[in-house]
Amino acid sequence: MMKKVDIAILGFGTVGQGVAKIIYDKASQWEKKCGAEINIKKVLVRKAGKKRDIEFPEGVLTTDWNEIINDSSIKVIVELMGGIEPARTYIIEALKKGKHIVTANKDLLAEYGEEIFELSKKGKLDLYFEASVAGGIPIISPLKQSLASNDIKEVMGIVNGTTNYILTKMLKDGMSYEEALKGAQELGYAEADPTADVGGYDAARKIAILASIAFHTRVKLKDVYVEGITGITPEDLMHAAELGYVIKLVGIAREENNEVEARVHPVLVPVKHPLAGVNDSFNAVYVYGDAVGETMFFGRGAGRMPTASSVMGDVVEVVNNIVNDCNGRVSCTCYEKKKIKPIQEVNSNFYLRLHVSDKPGVLASIATVFSKYGVSLASVIQKNGKQRNDVAELVVVTHLVKEKDMQEAIKVIKEMSSTRRIDNLIRVEQLKD
Ligand code: NAP
Ligand code: HSE
Repeated sequence: MMKKVDIAILGFGTVGQGVAKIIYDKASQWEKKCGAEINIKKVLVRKAGKKRDIEFPEGVLTTDWNEIINDSSIKVIVELMGGIEPARTYIIEALKKGKHIVTANKDLLAEYGEEIFELSKKGKLDLYFEASVAGGIPIISPLKQSLASNDIKEVMGIVNGTTNYILTKMLKDGMSYEEALKGAQELGYAEADPTADVGGYDAARKIAILASIAFHTRVKLKDVYVEGITGITPEDLMHAAELGYVIKLVGIAREENNEVEARVHPVLVPVKHPLAGVNDSFNAVYVYGDAVGETMFFGRGAGRMPTASSVMGDVVEVVNNIVNDCNGRVSCTCYEKKKIKPIQEVNSNFYLRLHVSDKPGVLASIATVFSKYGVSLASVIQKNGKQRNDVAELVVVTHLVKEKDMQEAIKVIKEMSSTRRIDNLIRVEQLKD
């Protein structure tokens, strides 16, 4: 007799609808792919009467969590509500009842991953979360399994589709920030509250998850240094282009001497860098491992069907494990405790844009301050835009310098009477040799 595995989907928004569509459209394939039919027994929604694209059989839609948690035939919970509560409580309750979990919820994992992983490990249950990082791109499973023999040294990526879409539209189509954000929201890329996207927190959660897996140590959201894209102006995008760079929101996680650095901020990426050509809602994650060398994972980082694709990869894996009675094989890999390097100790190249009085000696006085703090300049360009006569716009690029030294120098320059304003300070990534 054909086996059937009952699942419940929690939340029926952008991703939930994509998952249900794939399950129904490809119903005839599941037995061949994972040894059992996948049956959506329940879908938890907030309002049962809302009009939806998919017609469910009578009794599937419910607003009552008790109908799901108390149904022992439901073996897999696919959590696609997002946010911390009630998702956290529901997942904990489900694990305690022996149900396997598939989730796309990076908010939850980046802050409360530990307790959830402990519970799943204790119960030998599956907890899969491929869609929580970089939407449709397989990256969690490659890091945990395919690259398991490597010591990972660096993970670097464009992991937020909304901000990548915004920066691409501002640069290539001359859209305003507001227009581009509206477009990302309409296309289903943005979080319910888009400040998590544009403020860099969505990417920071993903980098926390990736760093935890790559370096086998728990990295939480609070350990990640975060800056978003709200301060990036068309002028910065234009100046960066003239210098041979594109500005991207990049997540960087590195390990050196048992210390882990994890950060998300805008970066001037050289046009020849593999991440420079990653545009629109596409994401890419670059991974360097000691055995494999350089690898890069690329694809749609957000949106209904790409994200549903990752969720379904996990569902197929869990159902396969159920059929073969081998759940809990792939569990938490944070078996070490490493120190987190504070951002003040990180070395970067910087791009600085500022407006100063256009008088003799001003440049020299700025150079003196930089020299006092050990900041070596790679280039200084005076822009001749539509400035008032007595004001000059300067664009400075530095050599590698420690963050705290650069910040100290900027503090002093900001207070100088010749400084009209500091426009922007953005870190610069250089091509590897
Ligand atoms: P969404 O469109 O906002 O959908 C969430 C759904 O959950 C909504 O339908 C909402 O109902 C429902 N919901 C929220 N709280 C609920 C509750 N207490 N009880 C029942 N239903 C509840 O979000 P999404 O974009 O699909 O994202 C889902 C998850 O996937 C999030 O964790 C997100 O971070 C992650 N993710 C999304 C993407 C993407 O491209 N969208 C990509 C990767 C990962 P209402 O409609 O009534 O509000
Ligand atoms: N809001 C997220 C993004 C969705 O724009 O990348 C994927 O997690």
